[in-house]
Amino acid sequence: MNRLIAVLSKSRKLKSFIRMASSFKEGLCRVELHCHLDGCCRPETIWNIAKRRGMMDALPGNTLEEFLTELRVSGSGTLAKFLHSFEIYMPVLKGDRVGIKEIATELCQDKMNDGAVYFEATYCPHFLSDDNLTTEEVVQLVNEGFKEGEKKFGVKARSILCMIRDKPEWCREMVELCDKYRSEGVVGIGIAGDESVALEIDFYQGVKEAIERNICRTIHAGESGPASNVQEAIEVFKAQRVGHGYHCVEDDNVYELVKKTGVHLEVCPTSSNVLGNVSPDWTKHPAIRFAKDNVNFSLNTDDTLHFNNSLQTEEDIAMKYFGMSKEDIITARVYAAEATFLPEGEKRELVEHVKKFSVSV
Ligand code: NI
Repeated sequence: MNRLIAVLSKSRKLKSFIRMASSFKEGLCRVELHCHLDGCCRPETIWNIAKRRGMMDALPGNTLEEFLTELRVSGSGTLAKFLHSFEIYMPVLKGDRVGIKEIATELCQDKMNDGAVYFEATYCPHFLSDDNLTTEEVVQLVNEGFKEGEKKFGVKARSILCMIRDKPEWCREMVELCDKYRSEGVVGIGIAGDESVALEIDFYQGVKEAIERNICRTIHAGESGPASNVQEAIEVFKAQRVGHGYHCVEDDNVYELVKKTGVHLEVCPTSSNVLGNVSPDWTKHPAIRFAKDNVNFSLNTDDTLHFNNSLQTEEDIAMKYFGMSKEDIITARVYAAEATFLPEGEKRELVEHVKKFSVSV
């Protein structure tokens, strides 16, 4: 009997070792915390879905290339063009079961090709739902898509459901969906949207509820808005992470708070520059100060569909303009891994994985 127990216990240990060893894909070493599911889909996928659904009239341009010029924002791009581009193609994705699952699975492949071993994608299910598809079904489809992507491409994918600043009426539902699907791949809640819109009470109640239910939080703040928004994210919303956060450097007290609390800033270099949320002069980017002061931050893409960027290009920018060395880039990857919303055990494993496979990069 004792021998049997010993064998079983050994095999359990072996199984758990195998699980540990294969949990993250070998060779991949980047981690992304800030990308939007509906801002990172492939243009050709939107194009094909529109064809399939007979919605080509909804898209501008006669060819995929012409359509792309409407979506991509570059040096001369503006926030208005960026926001407008979502209005152009979101109706094509809205309510399309096959398409929603497809963009989730494809994102895993795209992140794998970009060297990511793990990522968290943000989205608001309301933007993808319609009269025939509930927000809950959207969440289920994205979860399924990520699971399939994880199986096919070996990239671990999790999601963050996002409250939108001018949609207080959706807050409560976001908290409920986060709670209900926490074991199915939803790891946190966020707030995104136009920072000039004052937050209604619903957001404070929603986040309070999220805190009580132990749901992790990341808040877009200090992107276009003032340092005080970053302060609010840290002190009121008890956010573990802040999306962007650039303008925290404009208030010494808030910058001290960022350093003191060690809150994680999800920096998106190209996005910040192209959308004009920071000075167009790269040598004045706040991340230079973040790097110098060893602030806890990572490098992210935000919306690859619009910026035509990647984790690779963001790291290149950081080395070229932020004075970051290869070691600093690895540190930023490790900070990202440590700031994920994964359970503690998985997180530790990810951190070790990133350290191990980043050595040669
Ligand atoms: Ni964002």
